[in-house]
Amino acid sequence: MKVGVLGSGDVAKALGAGFVKHGHDVVMGTRDPAKLADWLARQRGARAGSFAEAARFGELVVLAVKGTVALDALRAAGAANLAGKPVIDATNPITDDPPVNGVLKFFTNLDESLLERLQREFAEVRLVKAFNSVGNAFMVNPQFKGGKPTMFICGNDEAAKRAVRGILDQFGWETADMGRAEAARAIEPLCMLWCIPGFLRGEWSHAFKLLT
Ligand SMILES: NC(=O)c1ccc[n+]([C@@H]2O[C@H](COP(=O)([O-])OP(=O)(O)OC[C@H]3O[C@@H](n4cnc5c(N)ncnc54)[C@H](OP(=O)(O)O)[C@@H]3O)[C@@H](O)[C@H]2O)c1
Repeated sequence: MKVGVLGSGDVAKALGAGFVKHGHDVVMGTRDPAKLADWLARQRGARAGSFAEAARFGELVVLAVKGTVALDALRAAGAANLAGKPVIDATNPITDDPPVNGVLKFFTNLDESLLERLQREFAEVRLVKAFNSVGNAFMVNPQFKGGKPTMFICGNDEAAKRAVRGILDQFGWETADMGRAEAARAIEPLCMLWCIPGFLRGEWSHAFKLLT
C-alpha cells in the first residue's frame, strides 16, 4: 500500500519504519524534510516531502503530529488530498502544561474528543483513531510476556476501520473496535492512563489488553 505519514517525530518514525518493514511504500510529510535525513538513510525506499505531498501520495494516511497542531497539519495536507482516504489519527490532545501527579492535561473534554473536532472540519476524511494508547517503542510488533496487546480503535467509516485492522494485524496487535467517532472520548484518555506509571515510577513498558 502507498502510505503517507504526516509527522517527523518519534511516532511518525516508528510507524513509518513499521510500514517500510511490512513492504509498504512510504512518504513522510513534514515542514522540514531535512530533519528526517538520518532516519531516511535507514529506511529503504521511504521519502520525505511536504504534508500535502505525503497526503496526496497515500492511499492510507497517518496523522502523527502534536495534538495542538493536528488541525493545522490536516489543513496543510489539504482536504482534497485526503478526501475519501482512511486516515489513522494517532494524536492525543495534550496541553503544554506539566502533568499533575503523573496525569497529563488535555485541551478537550469528555463530551468532545480531538478526533471529533478533526472529523467535523474534514467531513470527507475517513478518520480512525488508533496507536494513541501506547508508547512509540511498542507500536510495531511489540513483544509482551502477556501476549498480543489490544489496540482500541474507532471511527465512522467501516471500510477505513477494516483497512486499519489489516495494518494492526501486520503490526502484531489485536483490534478492539469501539464504534463511531464519539468513542474517541474514551480512547484518547487511555494515553493519560498509559503514561501515569511512567511519570510516577519510570515504568514505560506496558500496553493494554482487553480480556473476554
Ligand atoms: N510519543 C509517543 O510515544 C506517543 C504515543 C502515542 C501517541 N502519541 C501522539 O502522537 C503525536 C506525535 O507525537 P510525537 O511524540 O511523535 O511528536 P510531537 O513532538 O508531539 O509532534 C511532532 C510533530 O508535530 C509537528 N508540528 C509541530 N508544530 C507544528 C505546527 N505548528 N504545524 C504543523 N506541524 C507541527 C511537527 O512537524 P514538522 O515535522 O513539520 O516539524 C512534527 O512532525 C502526538 O499527538 C502525541 O500525543 C505520541
